[in-house]
Amino acid sequence: MTALTDPLSLPCGGVLPNRLGKAAMTEGLADVHGVPTPALDQLYRRWAGSGCGLLISGNVQIDRGHLERPGNVILDRPADAAMLAALSRWAQAAKMNGAQLWMQINHAGRQTPIRLNATPKAPSAVPLALPGKQFGVPVALTEAEIVDLIGRFAAAAASARAAGFDGVQIHAAHGYLLSSFLNPRANVRSDAWGGSLAGRARMLMETVAATRTAVGADFPISVKINSADFQAGGFSFEDCVDVAQRLASAGVDLIELSGGNYEQPRMMAMDGLDPAEQPKAASTRAREAYFLDFAKAMLGQVRAPLMVTGGIRSAAGMAEALDAGVALLGIGRPLCVDPHAPAKLLAGQISSLPRIEDTLRLGPGWLGPASPIKMLKAINGFAVQSWYYQQLRRLAAGAEVDMSLGAFTALWREQRDQAALLKS
Ligand SMILES: Cc1cc2nc3c(=O)[nH]c(=O)nc-3n(C[C@H](O)[C@H](O)[C@H](O)COP(=O)(O)O)c2cc1C
Repeated sequence: MTALTDPLSLPCGGVLPNRLGKAAMTEGLADVHGVPTPALDQLYRRWAGSGCGLLISGNVQIDRGHLERPGNVILDRPADAAMLAALSRWAQAAKMNGAQLWMQINHAGRQTPIRLNATPKAPSAVPLALPGKQFGVPVALTEAEIVDLIGRFAAAAASARAAGFDGVQIHAAHGYLLSSFLNPRANVRSDAWGGSLAGRARMLMETVAATRTAVGADFPISVKINSADFQAGGFSFEDCVDVAQRLASAGVDLIELSGGNYEQPRMMAMDGLDPAEQPKAASTRAREAYFLDFAKAMLGQVRAPLMVTGGIRSAAGMAEALDAGVALLGIGRPLCVDPHAPAKLLAGQISSLPRIEDTLRLGPGWLGPASPIKMLKAINGFAVQSWYYQQLRRLAAGAEVDMSLGAFTALWREQRDQAALLKS
């Protein structure tokens, strides 16, 4: 029986102190040039006492033309002395109590907001099917551009190591660039970067190989992938098992399983505008550990340690996942509500992490996540996400979480804060 407090040995030789990992959560706390600010350090100083042995950073972007949101940290060229110093301060803050800090690296692809880039690059010119003109029609990457981006992922990872991060995570989930390459609905290329699964996975696999060359054999590399996209004709669970096997053979140290994208946000157990396509091999659970069944179905087939993220809340659910052979449990939203909740759970003071997602919404009925009005359903999603962003801003400012904050006020404040950053 594996306990939450047991260390985890990784294929590269690294060791994580326990079985709880803070999942990546975009912070929006870099300055307008993408340099980490003291507010970001302050947030991680608080999470340093979270009880999680691993802290994975919010997504750091490898292309300033393709941010996931204003305020992303940007590493799209080898870090200069000032950037290295800022990254090192961030790393030291996060690691002050013995947790490891890994940097998640990403390219937002066609999910780059339109106000940041009206013509983002993507595998193919297939736009997101979302109302409200929040995302532009993408332009297909050329082969030379793909090769350049692979080099940037690797260079960002090398900078992370130089700055004192303990590992990196390549973001290939949730519909961003690498995830969209895997998705046959978004990648309709007819060259060697599309078509068969091997073609669609080529950018990810070459990114992993280049990153390994850049960071060396003894540095942890993780990849976050979707267990499925939950869309008809999208990246399937069978595809996921195949890609995970390729990643394990390539020496990836930890595969994090999530699911969904902006069109079908299953990573948060939210419904997209179209009904979710449910893979046959496994089911998502409504309330606890959304992707645990997928992990269980994969465990005998994939040799790399598996991390599962999404809806993991109760000590009993965590024990079940560890018993099944899951190596690490990822925790996201509870850490926006109580930055020390996992430490309390490890100490036996609580038996479950906060589950705020059950009640958070713009309003009742048609104002909520099940609204029949597509636009309202989409705005509800943005408002709920803004609520978490606003709580992270409070924690970063040294304030306490404001549980009385409404989702509509959070949406308004987040728009204001992002606009202010863009104007600065
Ligand atoms: C505020 C917020 C920001 C997020 N940012 C990222 C991110 O930068 N990268 C990523 O892979 N996932 C991101 N996620 C998804 C989480 O990593 C995680 O997969 C999801 O929240 C489900 O886990 P949970 O149920 O424990 O919250 C974010 C989630 C939230 C709530």
